[in-house]
Order: sequence, then structure tokens, then C-alpha cells
Amino acid sequence: MNDPVSVPPPLRGTVRVPGDKSLSHRAVLFASMAEGRSHLSGVLASADVRSTINACRQLGARIHIEGEDCASFGVIDVVGWGTLGPSQPSGPVDCGNSGTTARLLMGVLAGWPVRVVLTGDESLSRRPMRRIADPLESMGASVETTPHGTLPATVQGSSTLRPAHYASPVSSAQVKTAVLLAGLRATGHTRVTEPHLSRDHTERLLPAFGVAVETDPAPGASVYGPAHLKSADVAVPGDPSSAAFLVVAALLVPGSEVELPEVSLNPTRTGFLRVLERMGADVSSEETATFGLEPVGTIRAGYSPVMSGTVVTAEEVPSLVDEVPILALAAACASGTTRFEGVGELRVKESDRLAAIVDGLSAMGVVVRFGDDWLEVDGARQLTGAVLSSQGDHRLAMTWIVAAQVTHGQTEVQGVDAMAVSYPDFIRDLRGLMGRVTP
Ligand code: S3P
Repeated sequence: MNDPVSVPPPLRGTVRVPGDKSLSHRAVLFASMAEGRSHLSGVLASADVRSTINACRQLGARIHIEGEDCASFGVIDVVGWGTLGPSQPSGPVDCGNSGTTARLLMGVLAGWPVRVVLTGDESLSRRPMRRIADPLESMGASVETTPHGTLPATVQGSSTLRPAHYASPVSSAQVKTAVLLAGLRATGHTRVTEPHLSRDHTERLLPAFGVAVETDPAPGASVYGPAHLKSADVAVPGDPSSAAFLVVAALLVPGSEVELPEVSLNPTRTGFLRVLERMGADVSSEETATFGLEPVGTIRAGYSPVMSGTVVTAEEVPSLVDEVPILALAAACASGTTRFEGVGELRVKESDRLAAIVDGLSAMGVVVRFGDDWLEVDGARQLTGAVLSSQGDHRLAMTWIVAAQVTHGQTEVQGVDAMAVSYPDFIRDLRGLMGRVTP
């Protein structure tokens, strides 16, 4: 990416990062489940969200997209299947690279008399699905996975689901959401608790579709079924996980100063900002609006030559789970040691992110130590140029592209196409802030 001898130009200006991926999936799915016509704006136009749109179309939702610009769909008009339920698709539903598509769909399908085969790409076909299948089976659905607990999975739904009180062993919004969505089809109280609070977009968005959700101090959430979704108009704010890459790039490149407006500032997503503040970074956020129940605002970040290491606790991890790679890069450029605790979930993301962070940072001369579910990064005075692989993982691709801006010597990032999953225009936005025009 960068010239080995020149200093990179500073990042300066304002960028509206594309729509939040988690909210985009939920907006499309909930509108597809609802009775009537919904209008969605700001939905992320990325490969993962296209997987959800295509799946919902196969299941009978009528989805019309008006235009597409800068990784954002124009207004999406969705007529859901409502009380008729999803239709039996004629073939398998391909979830591509998207764990959220596969796992949330399992919960959607569990309560209807359909038999649906869910498939995914090579990466998704390695990821654990029993964490969803088991609670759904305890409610009366059948979810047949491979013997390894992976896709392809066959969901045989049931019209007579039992409500569940499920204590999830992992803090996962995908597990929580799947069980709650199935709970909408059961008669009675379905409650999910988790060790630490995961992102709560489902809890905040279902009420817009007319469904009451109770939050639980355990932490967790619950619903009363049967409950039917009614159509809604939803505006999706920018994705804090995408913003995180531009924020850290601004912290690391001398002279930078960026503003990222209209980003979701949901506290279950902004753990990375709290960690960076603790490290002494020049970052701030200001709430300017609410989109439904989602707080939305502007994130500001400026060059931060003096950052110091911190401890990221297991309790904080769900609020920054997708930001660990880019935070590990920030830690590599800080003084002292940063320790991440309770990060075992990184091993089952789009790649084994824990191993990938260790490999990538080590290749740049950073000292790292790690165990099954922890990681320590020692700050380095200078990162050295290296050949880095995305391993087909979008968040690694963007982390290494940011790293390439500050390495001493040439850095080559392989597999940058993976960015299409969540932030297809990342390089264009980064170069735009650097005053470079992408042809
Ligand atoms: C997501 C939840 C998280 C996150 C993923 C999106 C969601 O996964 O890593 O990118 O939209 O619910 P887990 O539920 O596995 O933690």
C-alpha cells in the first residue's frame, strides 16, 4: 500500500461510513418476517447483507431495492411473509460468508413447517452451529448439522415450539437473537441469558416492528409468544466496526484528524472507543440523534503519538469483539503491554483471528504472547514491512491495510477482496481522507 520511503499523508476530513452490518441484517430479516410493507434506508450494500436479502427472497419476502451508492442501498421496500410464514424454498439457501445470516435464519425458520437446507462458503462451513441448533432443538425444532456441528444444516421447523429459558454459555448476539426469534413462535415466555451483555440491536429493533422485548439484568432478554411482527420504517446508522479502522488509522498517521458522522453509538458496540480513550488516544464521540432506539452520533479521532497499554477485560469483549484485530494493531503502536482477556471467541470468527493476529503482528516484528483465550501485545517502536494475509477475513484485510500505512518498509496485504463482506469501499474512503483519489 504505502511507499517504503515516504511518510503517509495524514487522514483529514469527514466520511460517512456505510450502514451497520448487524442492523442491516436485522432490518431485512424483521421486515421479511413482518406483515405488510416496510421501508429500509441506509442498509449496507455488502456481500453479507446480500446473502440475507437473497435468503429472504428465496423464503418468499418481496424485496425491491431502489438504487445503490457508496456501499449503501437506496430505499429497500420489503413486503414480508407475515402470518403466512416463509415459503418452502426449492433448493438450499446459500448464506455465503455470513454467520449472522445462517444463525439468525435458523431462529426464524425454527417455528414454521418448512424444511430448509442452509449452506455457506468454506469459512462459514467451519464455524460452530450447535450453539444455535441445541437451544432450538430444546424448543422442538430439528436442526441437523454435520457431525462436526457445522453447515450444511437442515432446519425442520415446528408449528408447536415450546418456550425456553436458555442460559447461553457464550456471550453471543447471534445465539440470543436466534432463540428470541424462535420464542416469538412459541406460546409463553422465552428468556435468554448470557455471561456478559452482547450487542442488543435485536432488543432495540424488534419494538419498531411492534414486538415487546424485556431486558434482563442477568444480562439477557426475553419475549412473550406468540407475537407477530408488523411492518416498520427503519433507518440504519453507520457501522462502528467499520469506523474503527478509520479511527485507528487516524490515531497512527501523523497529522490526522477525522470526523465520522451518523455512526451507531450503541454502548454494546463502542467498547473500542472506551479502550482507546483509556490508552490515551485522542478520540471522542458525541450523540447527535437517535434512530429508533439506537443512539447515533459523530466519532472524532486525531493523531495520537502517545498511547499506552491497557487491560481489556472479558466483560468488555462482547462490546468490541469484532474490533480486537484493529485494537491489537493500536496496542502494537502504543507503549507498554496490552492484555486482552476472554478472547477465545476470536478463534471461531471468519478465520481463527487470534492466530492470525499473532502471525501478522509477529511478521511486523511485534512481540506477542497468547493462550487459548488471551492475548498480550507489547508495544513496538516501529513496525517493519511484511507480507500479510487476510486469510479471507474482512476484518483482517482492513487491519493489515491500516498497518501498511505505518510500517517501515514495504507491506503487501494479500486477499483484500475479503473487505466486500462489510466495507467494500474501505480503500476508497481511506485514500479519500488521505487526499488520494482512487481511479
Ligand atoms: C453479530 C454478532 C457477533 C459479531 C458478528 C455480528 C450479530 O457474533 O461478531 O460480526 O450481528 O449478531 P457472535 O454473536 O458470534 O458474538
